[in-house]
Amino acid sequence: MVVLSGSNSKPLAKQLAETLNWEHHSLETRRFPDTEGYIRIPSEVIDAVRKEPVVLVSNTFPDSGIVETLLMLEAINDVRTGNMENLKNIGPQELENVGPGVLLAIPYFGYSRQDKRFNPGEAISAKAIGNLLSSRCDGIIVFDIHEPKVLAGLSVPVAFTSAMPELALHLQKEVQPDFILSPDKGAIARASEVAETIDCQFSYLEKTRIDAHTIIHKAKDLDVDGKIVAIVDDMIATGGTICRAADALRSQGAVEVHAACSHGLFTGGAIARLVRYVDGVHSTSSLPNPRDVISGGPALARGVFELMDRLGLEL
Ligand code: R5P
Repeated sequence: MVVLSGSNSKPLAKQLAETLNWEHHSLETRRFPDTEGYIRIPSEVIDAVRKEPVVLVSNTFPDSGIVETLLMLEAINDVRTGNMENLKNIGPQELENVGPGVLLAIPYFGYSRQDKRFNPGEAISAKAIGNLLSSRCDGIIVFDIHEPKVLAGLSVPVAFTSAMPELALHLQKEVQPDFILSPDKGAIARASEVAETIDCQFSYLEKTRIDAHTIIHKAKDLDVDGKIVAIVDDMIATGGTICRAADALRSQGAVEVHAACSHGLFTGGAIARLVRYVDGVHSTSSLPNPRDVISGGPALARGVFELMDRLGLEL
């Protein structure tokens, strides 16, 4: 198998390739002056794309990532089906179709937040993007998606993978927490898995979101006096959820508070805000960010193997 990437996931694609000892190739990506994207499979990569099934690692965040992912899938499918026709008449114009074998690994599935229709007339964005991408690949691997249910019913199989095992080991080595906190009910499964893996206490908060920037937590007694606590969530965006949870922990005597997540979006000065509330911020490499200290390669590799198995693809 061959690992491919465009502009937004190269470091993680390399981590995946290293984890599996597979080849990695970068596709050419550029922007036209009007900001539209251009992608091309370099001539020297065409044989690699045709010789074995491929895993394209690409994020659907920010929006430009969706278009880039679609363009890369289009080019990969053309090359694998042998449609090489080009206006300059360079090389063979047609080749044998090498068959299915295009896997799409999406470390951070952008638009996963709108996974329901809260008000009439809204688009269920996660489903819309999922349908678009699944029309151009043979299977999808998604990494710590907020709500897996939203990708149910796509036309291709989806493997859900998680970086919680690696996140747990990182916290154990670097932070040695006594207590793991889930900042809301949605993160209970992930955070409790981390607590079990490293054998420490666990609890959760109940959160109400007022708007994108305002959240409140229900008061709760937590047994954190004198303890080192790590708050574990699937994603950190504005940092509001973590800052409020850190406040609750400090007021109950926690001596050290860390924030750990799969997806470090860190929007609008989130890191500057977070460092006023927590002693450390730890994220996986699903998105390039200044705190991507946990490799997402092993988690993606587990997803790739699961999908290969389901599709009957062999190495
Ligand atoms: C929501 O349920 C998610 O799990 C995160 O807690 C949330 O997206 C974090 O957002 P923010 O950092 O803006 O509070």
